[in-house]
Amino acid sequence: MTTTHYVYFQDSQSMPQVKSQSMQLMLTSCPYGTIKDYGNPDQIGFYDSIPEYYRKLGNVWTESIRALCPGGRMCINIGDQYVRAVKGTPYQILPLHAYLVSDIMAHHSDNLVYLGSIIWQKIPNTKTTGGASVMGSYPYPRNGYVSYNFEYIAIFKKLGKDPRPSKEIKAQAKMTKEEWRKLFNGIWQFNGVRQIDHIAVFPDELARRLIRMFTFPGDNVLDTFLGSGTTAKVAYEDGRNSIGYELGFGSGIDYTREVIKKKIHFYDVPVSESAAIFPTLV
Ligand SMILES: C[S@@+](CC[C@H](N)C(=O)[O-])C[C@H]1O[C@@H](n2cnc3c(N)ncnc32)[C@H](O)[C@@H]1O
Repeated sequence: MTTTHYVYFQDSQSMPQVKSQSMQLMLTSCPYGTIKDYGNPDQIGFYDSIPEYYRKLGNVWTESIRALCPGGRMCINIGDQYVRAVKGTPYQILPLHAYLVSDIMAHHSDNLVYLGSIIWQKIPNTKTTGGASVMGSYPYPRNGYVSYNFEYIAIFKKLGKDPRPSKEIKAQAKMTKEEWRKLFNGIWQFNGVRQIDHIAVFPDELARRLIRMFTFPGDNVLDTFLGSGTTAKVAYEDGRNSIGYELGFGSGIDYTREVIKKKIHFYDVPVSESAAIFPTLV
């Protein structure tokens, strides 16, 4: 099956290139608020207060919901954030996942339902979400702190009747009971990946599972924060089309293009001003 993949180096708060109701899955991982600087002055999160962070993310979700077909899924990977103790402010956790779910439902409950969250338990290879090391007053009570070695994947469904695939396509996507149980289990356990060219890459496995769970071959997958291009790579490998938005990270847009090119080996068409279009050669 030939698939197509587009990358737009733009702010995903507005996605005019994406047709309404054209995507079966939106799958992404949020910028990490104030704990990760992706290097772009226009990035969401790093310079923002919490209300501003959610307001901007809200624009992205509104656009994503517009882009989703009825019955389409929106899956958002997000971790809570710890705040170090500084000058009289105690160590504490910002429940970003809880805020995210309540914020989305407060604004979109007329055309979206929340279907729960998967807990992705990982062996962290960075200390950005609190790490899993011994923290606090070890080996004595009472000032120990919970190890933050997990993140969430919040799952939402756009209301309405989803498009039905043909019999042949449906048969191609059939799962065994074992696979179904593994994917739809509320807790996933696999490692994160080494962060080499980008500071917040999620593993292929995360994208692959969600694509398998919520799309058929030939469906369209959107990632509003494409980063190094993981979602596009997995969509390509698994016979789904993709669209990704990425503002640019690291030392700038040329660096960003190089990182994506490295990951997506079939990305070989010269890029225009703002969009890179790379039809796959299967
Ligand atoms: C958590 S990372 C995504 C990583 C990705 N899942 C991967 O596997 O490489 C979030 C990304 O969002 C990008 N970003 C931040 N604000 C953005 C915006 N307004 N529009 C598009 N991308 C943005 C950052 O540059 C960063 O690369």
